[in-house]
Amino acid sequence: MLDECLEGLAIDPKGIYVDGTLGNGGHAAAILERLEDGGMLIGFDRDVDAIERVKGRLKAGAGKRVELVHDNYANMAAQLDRLGVDRVHGLLLDLGVSSFQLDVAERGFSFQQDAPIDMRMDQTRGQTAGDLVNTASEQELADIIYRYGEERASRRIARAIIEARAKVRIETTAQLAGIVERAKGGRKGKKIHPATQTFQALRMAVNDELASIGQVLEQMVGRVTGGGRIVVLTFHSLEDRLVKHFFNRHIPREESLQQGGVRRIYEEPQVEWIWKKPLKASKEEQSINPRSRSAKLRAVEVGA
Ligand SMILES: C[S@@+](CC[C@H](N)C(=O)[O-])C[C@H]1O[C@@H](n2cnc3c(N)ncnc32)[C@H](O)[C@@H]1O
Repeated sequence: MLDECLEGLAIDPKGIYVDGTLGNGGHAAAILERLEDGGMLIGFDRDVDAIERVKGRLKAGAGKRVELVHDNYANMAAQLDRLGVDRVHGLLLDLGVSSFQLDVAERGFSFQQDAPIDMRMDQTRGQTAGDLVNTASEQELADIIYRYGEERASRRIARAIIEARAKVRIETTAQLAGIVERAKGGRKGKKIHPATQTFQALRMAVNDELASIGQVLEQMVGRVTGGGRIVVLTFHSLEDRLVKHFFNRHIPREESLQQGGVRRIYEEPQVEWIWKKPLKASKEEQSINPRSRSAKLRAVEVGA
């Protein structure tokens, strides 16, 4: 949904733009292309491999300032302070994992390839999904799998994990996928692998993904200049709900007063939705890129 993201950002060629999720650098490169001298792109990724891969390509454009930051976007305000940037003209967040992260077996995100269960976006810190699977209580595992995976068989899966790890440590993605598949009674001709939701849930828990989204929005809504934009591409209903509720608090609504009349209430700064409903990927894009089937794009303009 590159074109739609760019439309949402409505780029000012001399503006300062933050791509909070560099990934493979596709969106960042497109933003950079639209900037003129005087414009600036600041890119974040908590995955150091992502930064290393896109650095050469993004920094090659002369005349425009490019800053790449290896950090969680939950620390965006402090990083902008460090760079001496007070306000920005736009922020883009394209949430979740990159195709690169999914494709590299050793990152342990995917059950398509057998590897140690890691799933950390930032490999330099934090516990791996393998640590989580082998140490969390049955109740914790069930809660994670139910909440982030929206998986109905969460209790059965958590029980099966506990039973399996009592015999031998669960080391690899194939081992875990097998445990989940058996707990759910096999594939039964389903197109989607039975472990999909469990893997997604563990990834979201290990990377504390929802908390980071809340933090970056809180920090940045007040740092976007009047008329600037925030664009967020989500892939999970919990992410989308969080984004929607966050911005709805900043949209003025009228409340009737007892003594008559109305008053407008909202949290500062005021924002306005760019599209009434979230945009979805076109049928064409969905057929080329299956991941885009669950994508929802929302954008707001921040009031002056
Ligand atoms: C879907 S990809 C982005 C793809 C990118 N828009 C492109 O054009 O290639 C998401 C990226 O965001 C990064 N990411 C996810 N959560 C993050 C966070 N809290 N802080 C920083 N980077 C994060 C991931 O490491 C991943 O590289």
